[in-house]
Amino acid sequence: MEFQTPTGTVAAVNEFSLTLQPGETVALVGESGSGKSVSCLAVMGLLPPSGLISSGSILFNGEDLLSFDSNRRRRVRGKDIAMIFQEPMTSLNPVFRVGNQIAEATQVASGAGKVDSMKRAKELLDLVRISDAESRLKNYPHEMSGGMRQRIMIAMALAGKPSVLIADEPTTALDVTVQAQILELLADIQKEMDLAMLFVTHDLGVVAGIADRVCVMYAGQKVEMGGVNEVYERPLMPYTAGLLSSVPRLMRTGRSDRLTTIPGSSPEPGTHRTGCAFAPRCTYVQDICREGPIPLLTQQSREARCIRLDDLSLA
Ligand SMILES: Nc1ncnc2c1ncn2[C@@H]1O[C@H](COP(=O)(O)OP(=O)(O)O)[C@@H](O)[C@H]1O
Ligand SMILES: [Mg+2]
Repeated sequence: MEFQTPTGTVAAVNEFSLTLQPGETVALVGESGSGKSVSCLAVMGLLPPSGLISSGSILFNGEDLLSFDSNRRRRVRGKDIAMIFQEPMTSLNPVFRVGNQIAEATQVASGAGKVDSMKRAKELLDLVRISDAESRLKNYPHEMSGGMRQRIMIAMALAGKPSVLIADEPTTALDVTVQAQILELLADIQKEMDLAMLFVTHDLGVVAGIADRVCVMYAGQKVEMGGVNEVYERPLMPYTAGLLSSVPRLMRTGRSDRLTTIPGSSPEPGTHRTGCAFAPRCTYVQDICREGPIPLLTQQSREARCIRLDDLSLA
């Protein structure tokens, strides 16, 4: 996945694959700029015109979404695969009442008429645990708190009863208590609706309670994937270990109390490199890490892009 920019083509994501099973939550984690959002937008078919998927496929129930024309793609987006974004204010229209906006999302997703879609809007508010739905539907977005607006966005995303929900940093803009409430809500809804959820975050701390598996991205590549408990207990990739050591101890067990950060910064997009992208920041780097491209290696059901996978003990 690359972008055409005034200074040339910049690769944003490569070597990335992910499978979501019905009813499971996968967390997609990585520092800012690692390619999480563009990966989600690619799945949604919402990349900006400068973004190009040069190879690969996006399979949904066995069909490649990349082969769909724009109408068919739009139907998938309105119905089967839905997405919520970090900042709900930018996605809500400030001049329309939220009830009308949810009703419209319902109409688009299901073709329901005006009366039915208003009824459905009320049901959706119940689903996202907004009480006093009748009067809330008459509110404008600015009359609501950030957490409430995010609930509205979730309601709109669920209007078409999707089977896949992509949540791109849905709680990042919210304060901590509200963040916890939204996480709980998403976890409940995921179970109730048996959704396959891709939960995107830069914060491994929020992953523990919500995800079954975690996929770690670094510089546009998948660098580690595995069950949340396994990865937390024993990361296989030094980058994941670094991310984990900056998570407060409460979220983990048996780890030191000190918060650490990973020294250095992730490579500029489009940087040409041989070898491991994380090598310049890695405590465990050896000459061999800088030589060829590093493949994704497997260990039982886990994957990690680290050639020292078997000889490092990162717990
Ligand atoms: N519209 C765009 N034009 C050019 N480059 C972009 C554009 N959007 C994203 N990128 C680049 O793609 C990379 C991944 O971005 P993004 O997916 O937003 O990261 P994340 O969500 O992990 O923080 C970044 O290096 C970013 O600079
Ligand atoms: Mg992002």
